[in-house]
Amino acid sequence: MTNKDSQATPTIRIARVADLPEILRIYNQGIETRLATMESETKDMEYMKQWYHNRNPRYQVIVLENDKNQVIGWASLSPFSHRVCYAGIAEVSIYIENGSQGNGYGKILMQGLENVAKKNDFHKLVLNTFADNIPGQQLYKSSGFREVGTYYRQGLLDGQWVDVTIMEKLLI
Ligand SMILES: CC(C)(COP(=O)(O)OP(=O)(O)OC[C@H]1O[C@@H](n2cnc3c(N)ncnc32)[C@H](O)[C@@H]1OP(=O)(O)O)[C@@H](O)C(=O)NCCC(=O)NCCS
Repeated sequence: MTNKDSQATPTIRIARVADLPEILRIYNQGIETRLATMESETKDMEYMKQWYHNRNPRYQVIVLENDKNQVIGWASLSPFSHRVCYAGIAEVSIYIENGSQGNGYGKILMQGLENVAKKNDFHKLVLNTFADNIPGQQLYKSSGFREVGTYYRQGLLDGQWVDVTIMEKLLI
């Protein structure tokens, strides 16, 4: 039996305030990899509460739970731009906890996020990714995202320039 076969199908639901400690734990793991985000400082609960409570309800956060009702991943939609002409575009964030990566959960979560985005009238998803985030790149390609291009020296992470690749997926 492969690792994949032994995993029960996880469930996806809209995140609640009570999920914030788990969302924070998983987010900080992602920050520490230096492969997932331009954020370099780990976050605390105060930050997460503001992040959660200041959201426009259209830009939802979802979590993935295992069969023991433990949160093992989360994903969110964020505004691409404040300009009205871009109101149909949402930016993707997606994180699976360290011990659970590579089991197909990222793909399930991305599908869940896409469903939420369609329900909330977004016509397109976009995301930023680093070239060396191999699982991320693979997930995006196999989820139907198209590479738009790469910004060179787009940001500074730990004092080093980082190139950022933009990807998009049309939902309609
Ligand atoms: C990126 C991430 C969300 C992917 O989720 P995952 O559960 O690990 O990925 P999955 O198991 O669903 O695999 C998705 C695809 O990537 C491939 N993949 C997964 N891990 C891989 C690895 N280490 N090397 C190469 N390919 C890999 C899978 O084979 C699968 O490809 P396929 O659809 O063609 O079969 C997850 O690894 C993660 O949270 N990483 C840390 C945070 C991060 O980088 N987030 C993205 C930026 S916001």
